[in-house]
Parts: sequence; structure tokens; C-alpha cells
Amino acid sequence: MSDDVFERITLSSLRHLRKKGQKFACLTAYDATFARLVDEAGAEVVLVGDSLGMVVQGQETTIPVSMEEMIYHTRLVSRGRRHALLMADLPFLSYTDPLQAIHNAGRLMQEGGADIIKLEGGIKQVEIVARLSDQGVPVCAHLGLRPQQVHKLGGYYVQGRALESAAALREDARALEQAGADLLLIESVPAVLAADIITRSAIPVIGIGAGLSCDGQILVLHDVLGITPGHVPRFARNFMLGQNSIQGALKTYVAAVREESFPRDEESF
Ligand code: KIV
Repeated sequence: MSDDVFERITLSSLRHLRKKGQKFACLTAYDATFARLVDEAGAEVVLVGDSLGMVVQGQETTIPVSMEEMIYHTRLVSRGRRHALLMADLPFLSYTDPLQAIHNAGRLMQEGGADIIKLEGGIKQVEIVARLSDQGVPVCAHLGLRPQQVHKLGGYYVQGRALESAAALREDARALEQAGADLLLIESVPAVLAADIITRSAIPVIGIGAGLSCDGQILVLHDVLGITPGHVPRFARNFMLGQNSIQGALKTYVAAVREESFPRDEESF
């Protein structure tokens, strides 16, 4: 077994960082080369996101991404990362019931090499999260704006602005944590709501478009490198500006998260 395994970031490392009040950086990667660069830049978590549908495959949404494609890209990333925790997304309709979720999460871990799986979900996913957790599958629950729901939501809108939807999000977070989720990831919610959820939770919370209070921040690699074709979300920052290498941009992102100069107010809601 390589020594890297013993220096690897684990869920305990993230819990420890949260306890110390030290922010951690997360980034997506979809292949071995970029996984290595993200890892060498010092990011604590590398996510094989189903955003690969858009930034790698040129699809309009994450919906067409298949289980086989997620396993393939997770396997590539697992060859490039050394220290970072490897998280991988369960794609659309791959976790409609507990048995299917256990089967597919098992594939991401056994065939892909993921350390933790991420699924999009609110209170309706409580049973699935509980059953995964019972089987020893680490879970990150993705709340707020859930890109796999884009057609139901009617677009990529900020979530939890109204009192009712904010209360529902708080309840989602509480229920998923109680069901056994190890991490929460909150996307596109007002910073004050995210701060409130974080105060009430005992597990690390990763944010994207959720303000500075989150324990960790995550961005899509292509946004950080300023190479996203088309619309770039308000919460993203191009870290290539002022840099002359990809390595420099990735290290600047990690440093900005740790010293809390990212995100700024205008990169939050
Ligand atoms: O798929 C993805 O890349 C994600 C991040 C945007 C958090 O879920």
C-alpha cells in the first residue's frame, strides 16, 4: 500500500478542520492530469461532479450523464489524486430507491475508487441516506439549488429566499444529517440562510454560492480556470487572472479559500 493512503484527507480531517475553524478547499476534476494538479495545489476534496456533462461532454445539463460515465471519470481521477478526499456524484435517476442507491454507490466506490458519494436531495432522500449510511457508504447531501432538478425548478435559481423555502431547507439539512449524512453541500442559497444551517449542524458544510460561513468552498474547475463556455455563475471567480500557469491559479484558489478572501459578498447571495 502506498504511503499516500496514510497522508490522505479523510472525513475525520474535515471534521477536525471544522472544529478548528479552518476553511478547506474543494474543486472538481474529471481526469487524472487535472486531479493531480488539484491535489498538488492542496485542495482537501476533489469532486468528480456530474457537471462533467456540461464542461466535458458539452451537454446543456447534468441530466444525460450516465452511471458508466461517472464510474469511468471517477476511475481516471482516482489515478491522479494522492492526498485529497475523492467524492463522486451519483447521477440523475441512479438513486431512486435504497437498493439502487446502494448498488450504484458501491460501484462508484469499488470500480471508481471514490471515498464518498454525493447525491442531490432533501427530506425525501432521508431513507436512502440512512440505508447508505447503514451499509458504511459515506454520503454528502447536496441541498439548495440541485442541478438534476433543473427542469422541475424551471432554471438555475437561488433557493431559500422566501421564508417557507428557507424553513424547508433548514429542515432538509437537519433530517439528512440525522439520517447519517457525513457532509452537506449547499448550492446557491442566501449567505445568511447558509450561516444559520451551518450553526445548527454538527457536520462539515461545503458551499458553492452560499457565502463565507461555509466550512469548505467548492467550484467547478473550468470556472476557476476561466474556460467555461457560455454563462458563468455569479459565485464563480476566474483565478487565472493575474496568473501565468494553471498550477498558480489552483494554488491561489486554495489560498483564497483558506484565508477567507473567497467568496466576496458580490460572489454570494
Ligand atoms: O457537479 C458538480 O460539479 C457539483 C458542484 C457544482 C458542487 O455538484
